Amino acid sequence: MTKWHAAYIQNAYQELKRGTTRKQLDTLNINATGKRVLDVGCGPGNLLVALSTDAPELLIGVDVDETFLVFGRSQVENSIDPPAAVPILLRASLPILPFADETFDLVTCFLVMPHVPDDRLALAELARVLKPGGTLAISGHGFGFPLRYLKRFRLKPLQMYIASLIYRCTRKKWIRNTLQNDKKICNLLNSIGVVPEMRHYNQKILGCVATYWIKAIKSETNPKAIQ
Ligand SMILES: C[S@@+](CC[C@H](N)C(=O)[O-])C[C@H]1O[C@@H](n2cnc3c(N)ncnc32)[C@H](O)[C@@H]1O
Repeated sequence: MTKWHAAYIQNAYQELKRGTTRKQLDTLNINATGKRVLDVGCGPGNLLVALSTDAPELLIGVDVDETFLVFGRSQVENSIDPPAAVPILLRASLPILPFADETFDLVTCFLVMPHVPDDRLALAELARVLKPGGTLAISGHGFGFPLRYLKRFRLKPLQMYIASLIYRCTRKKWIRNTLQNDKKICNLLNSIGVVPEMRHYNQKILGCVATYWIKAIKSETNPKAIQ
C-alpha cells in the first residue's frame, strides 16, 4: 500500500465516521432501501458502508485499484453490522462494466470522473447498466478545485489547468479530463437520456465550483439511444 492509499483511506473513513458521506447522499435525497445498487470507483468502500445501512437488495462496488479493493473487502466486513447489506467488491474499470443492461436501480460514481479518459463513454456505460427510471449520482471536480492546492503545491494547480486545456483542445483520449464543467456534464447526461434532477456544490473558490454532485434519472418514456 502506498502512502497515498493510506492517506486516502484514513481521510475517507474519517469522513464516513463524521457522517459527511451520508450527508452527501442525503443532500441528493438518495435512499438505497430495497434497491439494486452499484458504486463505481468505490475506492476503499466508504460509500458502500454508508449505503449498506439503507438495506439495499443488492450492493456491489467496483474499482480498478486492487489495493483499495483488498482493503475495502476487509474494512466493510468490520464496519457493517447485521442486518445491513454486505457489499460485494469486484475489480472492473470504466468504460466497461461487467453487468447486463438495465441491472441497477441506483448507480453511484463519486469523484471518479476526474480519472476517466472520456466523459461521454463513461457516462454512457453508467447509463447502460441503469434501469429505466433508475437514479445516477455522480460527483467530480470543477475549475475551482485546483485552487485548493495553491498553498501547498504551487505547481499542481497549473498542471491541472494545463491538462484540462490540452484535453479540451485535442480531445486526446490519453489525457484525463481532471476538471469538468458540471453544466457540460448535465448536457452530456441529457444527450444520453439521463435527465439531471439536482445539482449541488460543496464549495466555490473565487466563484468557481470545487466539487459538484449531480443526481439524474434515466428516462423511462423516451430513452435516447446510448452509443
Ligand atoms: C478519488 S477516488 C473516489 C473513491 C470513492 N468513490 C469516494 O468517493 O471516496 C477515485 C476512485 O476511482 C477509481 N478509478 C479510477 N479510474 C477508474 C476507472 N476507469 N474505473 C473504475 N474506477 C476507477 C480509483 O481507483 C479510485 O478508487
